[in-house]
Amino acid sequence: MTDLERLTPKQFELFQSFIYQRSGIKLEISKITLVSNRIRRRLKAGNFQDFDAYYRFLTSRAGTGELSAFLDAITTNETFFFRTQSHFDWLKNEYLPELARAKSDGKRTASVRFWSAACSSGEEPYSIAMCLAESSVLLRGWDVQILGTDLSESALTAAREGVYKRRAMQEMDAARIRRHFSEEADELFRLKASVAQMVQFKHHNLLRPLNEPPFDCIWIRNVLIYFDRESKAKVVEHLVQSLVPGGYLVVGPSEGLYDMLTMLQKRTPFLYQKPKKDAS
Ligand SMILES: C[S@@+](CC[C@H](N)C(=O)[O-])C[C@H]1O[C@@H](n2cnc3c(N)ncnc32)[C@H](O)[C@@H]1O
Repeated sequence: MTDLERLTPKQFELFQSFIYQRSGIKLEISKITLVSNRIRRRLKAGNFQDFDAYYRFLTSRAGTGELSAFLDAITTNETFFFRTQSHFDWLKNEYLPELARAKSDGKRTASVRFWSAACSSGEEPYSIAMCLAESSVLLRGWDVQILGTDLSESALTAAREGVYKRRAMQEMDAARIRRHFSEEADELFRLKASVAQMVQFKHHNLLRPLNEPPFDCIWIRNVLIYFDRESKAKVVEHLVQSLVPGGYLVVGPSEGLYDMLTMLQKRTPFLYQKPKKDAS
């Protein structure tokens, strides 16, 4: 087997630790074939002779521009609209009415901020935006802000472009698709401006604090599965810092955070609330 076919365990270790430092993702040796295949694509794209030459470039000053494409090749950006329907049912049927009630009771102002942390190509924050658009009567006149962030520049470019294949719409019925998308050629669907303009996107690494005012509701789903506990703890610290008192954290089914959110109040298996100031 030549160098180009598969990483040696030693080469794997080098890439593994580089990936871990940059993203928090801890890839096990059992993933050596998968990782080799993914890195090989970057070798071909840049005409590198072997894994060692590529590693030297990637970790050099000259290789800074390659980092984003490398992490894109390694990470999984797979996502779709309304993934895990129960989370969106909670948003539409419980959270939005709760916000409207709090406003009419004089307990909050007419503004709300959402953060979709690790949003990939935008399906998650746009699904949040669709729920809000569909419930516009409840929050009429509100200042609504939805931020989507991700480590992957190419995912963010796709998110800003707002054009999707039918596969991303597997959880949406025809009426919802018609309402929010216009069909382009070849089974491609463009998100309408009414929803697209509700969401802003920004590059961000979950291992670092987000430099933004706090959010009322943060979504962290289908991203932490390959993070080790130390990295998860860092991410949790940053997320909790970014939540307002009384704010909610919506957690994906595979994050593995269940014993790491003790500073929050568990509301349902996927929903955690930061204590309100007067309750703490
Ligand atoms: C599978 S997608 C999840 C998308 C969406 N949240 C969902 O539930 O469908 C995982 C995303 O996490 C991003 N990601 C991985 N490590 C990250 C990090 N350290 N900081 C921010 N985003 C990261 C990847 O780029 C990828 O787009």
